[in-house]
Amino acid sequence: MIAATDFIPKPYTNSLNQGSFTWSAPSNIALVKYWGKKNNQIPANPSVSFTLNNCKTITTLAFAKKQKDGNFSFDLLFEGKPKEDFKPKIQKFLERIEVYLPFLKEYHFTIDTQNTFPHSSGIASSASGMAALAMNFMSLEKALHPEMTEEYFFKKASFLARLGSGSACRSVKGQVVVWGNQANIKGSTDLYGVEYPYAIHDTFRNFQDTILLVDKGEKQVSSTVGHDLMHDHPFAERRFAQAHENLDKLIPVFENGNLDEFITIVESEALTLHAMMMTSLPYFILMKPNTLQIINAILKFRNETKIPVCFTLDAGANVHVLYPNAVKEKVLQFIKAELVGYCQNGQYLCDEIGNGALLN
Ligand code: PMV
Repeated sequence: MIAATDFIPKPYTNSLNQGSFTWSAPSNIALVKYWGKKNNQIPANPSVSFTLNNCKTITTLAFAKKQKDGNFSFDLLFEGKPKEDFKPKIQKFLERIEVYLPFLKEYHFTIDTQNTFPHSSGIASSASGMAALAMNFMSLEKALHPEMTEEYFFKKASFLARLGSGSACRSVKGQVVVWGNQANIKGSTDLYGVEYPYAIHDTFRNFQDTILLVDKGEKQVSSTVGHDLMHDHPFAERRFAQAHENLDKLIPVFENGNLDEFITIVESEALTLHAMMMTSLPYFILMKPNTLQIINAILKFRNETKIPVCFTLDAGANVHVLYPNAVKEKVLQFIKAELVGYCQNGQYLCDEIGNGALLN
C-alpha cells in the first residue's frame, strides 16, 4: 500500500535555473459525490466522476531560481492580469505541498491561468485549476529528476491536486476516475484518483454533459464549509456507507450499460448531496426554483419519451444534464425548447466525457 510519505522525493539529480510549462486540466462531474472529509483532505467516502473535456483551466507556470531560498514567492495572473484574491489559496496550497516538493522555496513562480468557461459562471474552477497547477509542478519535478516514471508522475500529480482541492485529484486522468478507498475497486485509495479499472460499456463513451447555468452568483457555501457540515451530521455515517454501496452498484452498470440503473444511482446521489445540506446545522438550500423546474422537466421528458437523460448537481443551483451521445440531438432540442428559459441569460455549456490533463 502506498503512503503519503512515498511522495517525499529523494535528493534531485538535476538542476534547472529557469523555464516554463503549460498544462491544461479539465473539470469533472461526480456521479457518486464526495461530501465530508477528514484531516489532510482525506475523503470521508469514495467518489467516482466523469472527467470533462471542454471546461478546463490552462495554466502556464514560469519559474526562475532565486538567489536565496527565503519564503514562497509567486505572482498570480488570471487571464493575463494580476489577481490578488486568488493568492491566499495558492499560498495555502504551497504550504501543504512543500514537504512533497522541497524545491518550491528555491524559485520565483509566475502562475498565469485562464479558464475556457466564462468567469463567474458558477462553475467551480478549483478542480481544474488545482489540477493544472499540480501538473506543472510535476513537470518541474520531472525536469529535476528525469528518471521519474510516468506512473509516479500522474499519481503524484493527482496526490498534489487533492491537497489543493479534493475533487481536483479526479481531474488528472480520464475518463472515469475513482477517488477514495473502496473495497471492491482495486487500486482505489484516499490519497489520489485512479482510472476506473474495470469494463466500461460503449454507451458511456462520448457521454454528454450539458451544464445549465441557473445561478451564476458567488457560491453560497464554500466547499470547505460544506464538507465541515458533515462533522456531527445526524446522517453522516449512513451517508458515507451509502456512497460505498452506490459505487458497488455502479460496477455492473458500467459494464452492462444499464442506463435505468445508472440514472437511479446518479440522480439519487445528487439529491442526497443536497439533502445533506438541508439537514445539517446550519442548513442550506442551494437549489433555486429554476433548478427544480429543470429537474421536473427532465423527469417528465424522460417519462414521456423514454430517452435516457438524467440530471446531477454540484453544491450549487446549476444542473448537469447527462445523456449518451446516441440521443444528443433529441436532448439538445429538448434543452433548447424547454430548459434554456430557466437558465440565467439563457446560458448553458456543452461538454462531454474527456481524457484528463494535457501538456501544451
Ligand atoms: O473538491 P471540493 O472540496 O470543492 O468538493 C467538491 C464537492 C462536490 O463537488 C459537491 C462533489 C464532488 O465529488 O465533486
